[in-house]
Amino acid sequence: MADATENLKTLVSHCKEYGFVYPSSEIYDGLSAVYDYGPLGTELKNNIKNYWWKSMVHLHDNIVGLDSAIFMHPKTWQASGHVDAFNDPMIDNKDSKKRYRADVLIEDYISSKLEKKIDKEIKKAKKRFGDDFDEVKFRAEHPRVQKYLGQIQEIRDKMNEALRDDDLDDLKELIEELEIACPVSGTRNWTEVRQFNLMFSTQLGSVAGAEGKLYLRPETAQGIFVNYLNVQKTTRQKLPFGIAQVGKAFRNEIVARQFIFRMREFEQMEMQYFVKPGTEMGWYEKWKAFRMHWHRSLGIPESFYRFHNHEKLAHYANAAADIEFDFPFGFKELEGVHSRTDFDLSRHEEFSGKNIKYYDHEEDKSYVPYVVETSIGLDRMFLAVLSQALQTEMVPDADGNESERTVLKLAPFLAPYQCAILPLVKNKEELVQKAESVHRLLRAQFNCQYDEKDAIGRRYRRQDAIGTPLCITIDFDTLEDDTVTLRDRDSLEQIRLPISEVAKRIAEKTNMTSALADLAERFEG
Ligand code: GAP
Repeated sequence: MADATENLKTLVSHCKEYGFVYPSSEIYDGLSAVYDYGPLGTELKNNIKNYWWKSMVHLHDNIVGLDSAIFMHPKTWQASGHVDAFNDPMIDNKDSKKRYRADVLIEDYISSKLEKKIDKEIKKAKKRFGDDFDEVKFRAEHPRVQKYLGQIQEIRDKMNEALRDDDLDDLKELIEELEIACPVSGTRNWTEVRQFNLMFSTQLGSVAGAEGKLYLRPETAQGIFVNYLNVQKTTRQKLPFGIAQVGKAFRNEIVARQFIFRMREFEQMEMQYFVKPGTEMGWYEKWKAFRMHWHRSLGIPESFYRFHNHEKLAHYANAAADIEFDFPFGFKELEGVHSRTDFDLSRHEEFSGKNIKYYDHEEDKSYVPYVVETSIGLDRMFLAVLSQALQTEMVPDADGNESERTVLKLAPFLAPYQCAILPLVKNKEELVQKAESVHRLLRAQFNCQYDEKDAIGRRYRRQDAIGTPLCITIDFDTLEDDTVTLRDRDSLEQIRLPISEVAKRIAEKTNMTSALADLAERFEG
C-alpha cells in the first residue's frame, strides 16, 4: 500500500512538473476532483481520443460518429432512470460535517484494518522463510490470515446484501457495528444513511421553477439513444450499426479521489451498437474481445488487464463486464462493455410518446433494437497509459557509467511530441540555422519540440521524461554532409542518416497505421 501511494504521488508530481495535468483553479487551492490538462496532457489526450475514434469509427463501415449536446430535455433522465436510480448511499459525520459514501467507508475499514493485518502477517512470514515463501499457500492455510479473510467476506456479504436491497438502515447498522470513525473528526457521530443523486442540475434561463430544471449529462450514451433513428435514416444504415461519441459527462461523486481516476467532470468515449433482438449476446462477446485487442494494441503487457464479469446486473442489462486495469492503486474498472437490451430505447419511446422503432425491410416488421455498448473514460485511459509508461531504469551515460533515467515508454503514436530537434550547441549560428531549417521541414507533418537549452545529455533526458520517441541532433557533421543523428528513446540506439530520410523514419516509427491495420483484422463483424 505504501508503494502504491508513493507511485501515485510520483505520477501526480510528474504530471504537474511536465505540464500533463494541473489541479483545476490551483491559485484558489484547487477544486476537489476537477483537473485541467496542460500542454502535453492535451496532446496525449487528443492522441488517445484519435486512436479510439479511428479504431471504432473509421475501421468499421457501419459505425458513424455523433456530437450531441451536453444539455438534454429533462424527460430524457426520467426515461433513462437517472432521476430515480442514479444514487449513491451517503452518510455525514455531524462533527466534521464531512460527507462519505457509506460503502466506501466500509471498504476503507476493510483495507485499513483487516487487509493491513494480513499484509503484516505476510511480511513477517516472508522475512522468516525467504525464497521458500509461498504466498498463495500461506494465505490459504495460515489460521490468522484465514480468520481475517473470513471477517472480510462476512462484512462484504452484509454490505452487498444491504446495497442490493436498498436497505439504508442495515448499512448504518454495519458502520456502527464495525465502530467506524470519521477520519477527520475521529468521532462516530453519524447521520442516517441517505440516497444522494449524482446528477448535477442547473436552471434554463427562460423558464422559472421546476419546469426549467436541466441536468448536466451523467453519460454521453443518452444523446446517442435519442438520436439513433435520425442517424439511421440519414446514413441509411441497416442493423447492426453503431454510433460513437466522445464528450464530457458530469457526476457529483461523493468520494472523488485517486487523481483523475474518479472526477466530477470527465470525458467518455462511448459506442452504442444497435442489433436485432436475440443476436445481442454474440455481439456482446465480439465487442468484449475487440475492446481487449484495442487495449493490447498499445503495447501494454497483458498482465495489466483483466475482465470482471458482473454477476449482479443493472436492471437494464442482460450481460455486463468491466475491463479492469492494474492502476498504481490496484485493479480497477477502466471500461465497461454492456448488453443493455432494449431498455433505453423502449423507455424513450414510452416517455416521448413517439414511435422510434426500426423498420426491418427484410423481415417486413418494426421493432425496437437491442443495444450493446462499449464505454470507456478518456481520463481513466490517460491515467492507465501514463501510469504504466512512467518508468525509471539504469542506462549507460556518455561517460560509460550507469545512471538512472526517468522515461515515459508510451506507444510512439500516443506520445505528445513525435520528435525533438536539438542543435548540439546553441551558440553556433550556422548550427542553429540548420536546426531551424530541419524544424521547418518537419513541423507541418509532426508535432516537434525544438530545444537548444542545456547540454545534449540533459536534453535527451528531458525528452525521455515526456516520452518523445525520437531525438534528432544537428551537429558539425550536419553542416558538411546534411546528415543528422537519430536517437531512439527505448533502445537508445543512435544512427546517422540524411535529412532527406528523416521524415520517413519518424512516420514509420510514430504513425498509428500498422496498429490500426492489425486491429482491422481482429473484429469478427
Ligand atoms: N454509458 C455507460 C456508463 O456510463 P459507467 O460504467 O458508469 O457506464 C463508463 O461509465 C466509464 O466511464 C467507466 O468505465 C469509467 O472509465 C468512466 N467513468 C465513470 N465515472 C467516472 C468518473 N467519475 N471519473 C472518471 N471516469 C469515469
